Amino acid sequence: MTAIHLTDISVSYDNPRVLGPLSLKLTSGDFAVVFDKSNCGKSTLLKRVGLRD
Ligand SMILES: Nc1ncnc2c1ncn2[C@@H]1O[C@H](COP(=O)(O)OP(=O)(O)O)[C@@H](O)[C@H]1O
Ligand SMILES: [Mg+2]
Repeated sequence: MTAIHLTDISVSYDNPRVLGPLSLKLTSGDFAVVFDKSNCGKSTLLKRVGLRD
């Protein structure tokens, strides 16, 4: 069963864009790690998906 399905999302608070465009599909039971340099948009992604405040 699909748990998370993002299609071509982007986030901009202002210019420049801080995330995306990004697509992601995770199935129930999948294990995923969000790993990259500081300020690249990891927290922004998790907030959009509803996985953190
Ligand atoms: N609420 C916000 N308003 C404006 N800019 C933001 C906001 N949240 C994050 N940013 C900016 O978006 C970029 C990515 O931030 P963030 O997702 O927290 O990165 P990471 O978690 O990968 O370190 C940073 O440049 C940050 O300053
Ligand atoms: Mg962060």
